[in-house]
Amino acid sequence: MNQRLKLGVLGSGKGSNFKAIMERIIDGWVPAEVRIVISDVPDAGILSYARDFQIPGLFVNPGKYRTRLETEVEQDIVRLLQEASVELVVLAGFMRVVKEPMLRAFPRSIINIHPSLLPKYRGLEAWKQALEAGEAVTGCTVHYVQAAVDAGEILGQLQVPILPGDTPESLHARIQIAEHDLLPEVVRQIAEVRSKLPDSFAARPDDK
Ligand code: GAR
Repeated sequence: MNQRLKLGVLGSGKGSNFKAIMERIIDGWVPAEVRIVISDVPDAGILSYARDFQIPGLFVNPGKYRTRLETEVEQDIVRLLQEASVELVVLAGFMRVVKEPMLRAFPRSIINIHPSLLPKYRGLEAWKQALEAGEAVTGCTVHYVQAAVDAGEILGQLQVPILPGDTPESLHARIQIAEHDLLPEVVRQIAEVRSKLPDSFAARPDDK
């Protein structure tokens, strides 16, 4: 026991949330280790960060769909995560919907960061949706992933004010600063809780 929680990180974008997790692991705040980084975008920044941090980083061709992975591809990703002994999957800007293969293999063991105060503003460019709706406050949410998109038990949220003169870009940049605090903190909490559970009680990926 007291082992570090083994993470697999999936992302499609620049990877600033992955970088934030790595920084908090390296400074000792988050008792975890990233075993593998997987991206559906060949030149995604998250893969460059993986190289910088000397973490195995893989591009996986997502196949013919725009918003999800082909089933066989998702099964391949499950296999890669299992081979890396991943216990918690972190979706850090992964812009595809996760389906049955992942959900079945990692029950209650996939978390996602979303740039709004869920349940408000699911879907794409949630910061823009909040701005256009005239909200005074938005923020970010970390939640367990389940079949319904941007739903699932909420594990943590941080509020971010919307300021006069905000553009979508300035607002998203401020939300990202909050994300970089929230996501490592939720990972830390999950790692702490799981390190205290006997192995038989900890939610583990199945071996199927
Ligand atoms: C983050 O703002 C994250 O909340 C968002 O993508 C960005 C990734 O940034 N995710 C979603 O919108 C998922 N629905 P990053 O690549 O710099 O971590």
